[in-house]
Amino acid sequence: MKSIFAFLTVAVFLVSCNPAPTSSKSSKGALTGNAAEKVYVAPGQYDEFYAFISGGFSGQLAVYGLPSGRLFRVIPVFSQDPEKGYGYNEETKPMLNTSHGFVPWGDSHHPDISQTNGELDGRWVFINENNTPRIARISLETFETEEIIEIPNSAGNHSSSFVTENSEYVVAGTRFGVPIPQRDMPISEYKGNFKASLSFIKINQESGNMNIAFQLRMPGFDYDLSHPGRGKSHGWFFFSMYNTEEAHSLLEVNASQNDKDFIAAVNWKKIEEYIKAGKGHKEKVKYAHNTWNDDTHTATSKMENEVLVVNPQDVPGAIYFLPTPKSPHGCDVDPTGEYIIGNGKLAAAMTVHSFTKMQKAIADKAFDGDKYGIPIIKFEAVNYGTLEQPGLGPLHTEFDTRGNAYTTFFISSEVVKWNVKDLKVIDRHPVYYSVGHLMIPGGNSRKPFDKYLVAMNKITKDRYLPTGPEVCQSAQLFDISGDKMELLLDFPTIGEPHYAAGIPAKMIMDKSQKIYKLEDNKHPDAVKTEADTKVVRKGNEVHIYMSMIRSHFSPDNIEGVKVGDKVFFHVTNLEQDYDVPHGFAMIGAQTAEMLIMPGRTATSVWEPKEVGVWPFYCTDFCSALHQEMQGYVRVSAKGAKTPIKYTLDDEVPGEEEE
Ligand code: CUA
Repeated sequence: MKSIFAFLTVAVFLVSCNPAPTSSKSSKGALTGNAAEKVYVAPGQYDEFYAFISGGFSGQLAVYGLPSGRLFRVIPVFSQDPEKGYGYNEETKPMLNTSHGFVPWGDSHHPDISQTNGELDGRWVFINENNTPRIARISLETFETEEIIEIPNSAGNHSSSFVTENSEYVVAGTRFGVPIPQRDMPISEYKGNFKASLSFIKINQESGNMNIAFQLRMPGFDYDLSHPGRGKSHGWFFFSMYNTEEAHSLLEVNASQNDKDFIAAVNWKKIEEYIKAGKGHKEKVKYAHNTWNDDTHTATSKMENEVLVVNPQDVPGAIYFLPTPKSPHGCDVDPTGEYIIGNGKLAAAMTVHSFTKMQKAIADKAFDGDKYGIPIIKFEAVNYGTLEQPGLGPLHTEFDTRGNAYTTFFISSEVVKWNVKDLKVIDRHPVYYSVGHLMIPGGNSRKPFDKYLVAMNKITKDRYLPTGPEVCQSAQLFDISGDKMELLLDFPTIGEPHYAAGIPAKMIMDKSQKIYKLEDNKHPDAVKTEADTKVVRKGNEVHIYMSMIRSHFSPDNIEGVKVGDKVFFHVTNLEQDYDVPHGFAMIGAQTAEMLIMPGRTATSVWEPKEVGVWPFYCTDFCSALHQEMQGYVRVSAKGAKTPIKYTLDDEVPGEEEE
């Protein structure tokens, strides 16, 4: 225990004596003369790459351009987004439903882009939610969240959401061991009784729809990160873990005892065969499965009640433990699929395992006992080698096409480039400060696009103008095309930039959705023309079927609403031009605005509390007459006899003018 404390003391010291402000040569001197040119994207020009950067505790996914670092869009995923009405309007609310009820917030972590033959294919990006375990799928045509599936029997969904070589599966692993099924029991009885789930979620290749194919019921260790095998190791999945001590308190000490923890190697192809042969058993669970219907552009939430559970002892030969020093965080597989890198947070060396050696060790039964029935492969029998003293606190590794790995070191705040085969450090570069993940576009695939590297830093300190106690987190862009890494740019990020996925812009920009065709709008409350707009009372509900087009609403004068009514604004944007959304906001409504894309319908609910004449307006500057895009709702007293009346320019929409 003493040695750990000594190590941590050194760590704290190193963090606190990071290089100081921007005026020092340490940062300015790091830039060569042409860095500005390399990140300059002239006005009207496009960036070369999209970068999808996790919003961390914002729960969202942000879209940036590289090399400029410009922020294009925040895609709402796990959190309500008042800017767009996501999670506030009636159509999107079901996306945030869970087995715990409506959850307005999430903690997003690791985006990963779908693959075909081990290469990025630009269909979807997946991202995990850590707190209330979920996986989301986002369309790279519409840049909208299309599906969110909750992961049962899981807690702290961290070793997620990574896709296999042909997007057969997106994989989610629990971070916390928990009682499965959940039950009332003493925490002190953790050891041996708490369990962990590794979930394999099948992806439908046509629709992208996700379904949990099976869950592995693993020992209650903490599963940290994971990556798929590729090429020769396709069919395997690798999970790093800490707390193989099964501690339940003061983990910083008690989960740092073992010299070696494990990487779990899971042969999912073999497990598929076992399942075909009838292995595994169904268990009762409860989890939400939320899907977005693009025709009705409405989400539905379904509560699922069953999951197929596979115990390791049911599938001999499918799961092994690879001893890996010491509390490995990242678990990364190189583009060839041969090398599996364990980033031992507390280890002095980087551990590189060999897939070829692993297969031989399995054939030779070179085991060092087992843990809960899972064979532990002898360290020497699987280890390719170690990279000695590369830095302090290794977290994550990505790769280029030239046999090099790039590893982040949290404690020594640097990125280190090293050759995987030779196990030799080639270059190192400081980052500002305390780097977590890094990303090379395609870095989790057979074919990285190794021109840029983005380091995502946890601490910003003095890198930007101060903004009170909370300063933004930050990304740093490096040029990695040469022998030496070259720092090009700092740019701020939203939330915590846990991880990112990058892809050449040309792979998705041309298929980006421009508008939604009005004729394809199957929303049950859509109106296709102004003549169809109307107001209908159903008991104490008033349904307003409204349209918007530059620069008015139809109808824009509405009467006959009463205090105590529940008013539904079903608003359709009739525009069919690119980049002409309209917004809708109602005074006093206890919800967000709606931002409605051309051809789409959205619904906002308002419960007026006071009599009066209350205005609504368009929130998005849509034309020279945007300010004129407004209207009124007259609200009468509860028992009033005011009849329903709705007009545009004092005419009832659709009725012939006299
Ligand atoms: Cu429509 Cu502003």
